[in-house]
Amino acid sequence: MNASIPNFTLANGQKIPAMGYGVYMMSSEEVREHLPQALELGYRHIDTANAYFNEVAVGEVVRSCGIPREELFVTTKLFPQSYPYERCAADIDATLSRLGLDYVDLLLFHQPYGDYVDGWRAMEEAVTSGKARAIGLSNFPVHKIDEILEVAVIKPAVLQVEINPYWNQRELKHALAERGLDDMVFEGWYPLGHGDAGLLAEPVFSQIAAAHGKTPAQVILRWHYQEGNVVFPKTLNPGHMADNIDIFDFEITDDEMARIAELPQHPFYQVPEEPPAFVLVENDYAQQATSGPRSPMRPNGE
Ligand SMILES: NC(=O)c1ccc[n+]([C@@H]2O[C@H](COP(=O)([O-])OP(=O)(O)OC[C@H]3O[C@@H](n4cnc5c(N)ncnc54)[C@H](OP(=O)(O)O)[C@@H]3O)[C@@H](O)[C@H]2O)c1
Repeated sequence: MNASIPNFTLANGQKIPAMGYGVYMMSSEEVREHLPQALELGYRHIDTANAYFNEVAVGEVVRSCGIPREELFVTTKLFPQSYPYERCAADIDATLSRLGLDYVDLLLFHQPYGDYVDGWRAMEEAVTSGKARAIGLSNFPVHKIDEILEVAVIKPAVLQVEINPYWNQRELKHALAERGLDDMVFEGWYPLGHGDAGLLAEPVFSQIAAAHGKTPAQVILRWHYQEGNVVFPKTLNPGHMADNIDIFDFEITDDEMARIAELPQHPFYQVPEEPPAFVLVENDYAQQATSGPRSPMRPNGE
C-alpha cells in the first residue's frame, strides 16, 4: 500500500502533507524500525525535535529510504537554550548536521520561553540562507506571538499546539485570524489525546465510525483534516499506521461535525506562562537516545 496523502498550503506557497508521522518519545532504534514502515505505507512528513534526541536516526532513515528528498517534509524544533541570537545560527547548523540534511522543510521554536523575540531574526536568516523552507512556533500563546509579530519580517507560517476534539482551539484560531494570521497552518499535537481511552471511547465517535465503516481513531483524524489541522499521530503499531492514513475516502457530515463540536473543552496540558523546570535544562543533543525513549519532556506531554 502506498497511500496518497493530501497537502495543505503554507503562506509561502509551500505544500505540507496534512498527515505525518510523529516520533516523540521514540528511541533511535524505534525510529530506525518504524519510520521506514511509515514511509513504505506512504507517509512523507516527519515531525521530530532537538529535544526528542532522535534526529540522527531520523536523518539516517530519510537519507537511506530511497525517496527523493524533495518528496519528504521534515520538521524539527529548537529548544529555548538555542534561541539567543548569538547562539541560534550555530545550533541550527548543528541540527542540520545531526540530521545530515542541507535543509529542513519546517523549523519551529518548540517552547514559548527565553529569547524567542531576539532569536526570530536567526530563524528568518535560516530561511534566507535556505536552511529552513518555513519557520513557525509551537506552544506559543497569543500574547507571545504578538511579541514576535512586532519584529517579524517573515511571519510564523505554522503554529503547533495541542489540538484534539476535547481542545479544538477554535478560539485561538479566531484570535490569530483577527491578527491577520488567517493563512497560518495549525498543527495539532496529541491529535488522538495521546491515546486517551476516554476520548477514543466517546460514543459520538463510535456512532460516526459505524455510519462510515471506520474506527473511532479514524473519525478523529478525519475530523482534524476537515478542521484544517495538520497532524502526525505517533504509533509503533503498523496496523494503526495504516489505519491513520486511511481517512481520505470518506467525509464527516456537517451534522456530525456539529456533534463533535459539542464535546466539553479542556486541554490535556496547560502550557504554563513561566518556564517549567524541564525547559530550563541545558540539553546535550550529541547524546542521542540509543535504547528506550530519551526526552527531557515531562512524561505527560511537552
Ligand atoms: N510540539 C509539542 O510540544 C508536541 C507535544 C506532543 C506531541 N508532539 C508531536 O505530536 C505527535 C503525536 O503526539 P502524541 O504521540 O503525544 O499523541 P497522539 O498521537 O495523540 O497519541 C499517540 C497514542 O495514540 C495511539 N494510537 C495511534 N494511532 C492509533 C489508532 N489508530 N487507534 C488507537 N490508538 C492509536 C498510540 O498507541 P499505539 O502505539 O498502540 O498505536 C499512542 O499511544 C508526537 O509524536 C510529536 O511529533 C508535539
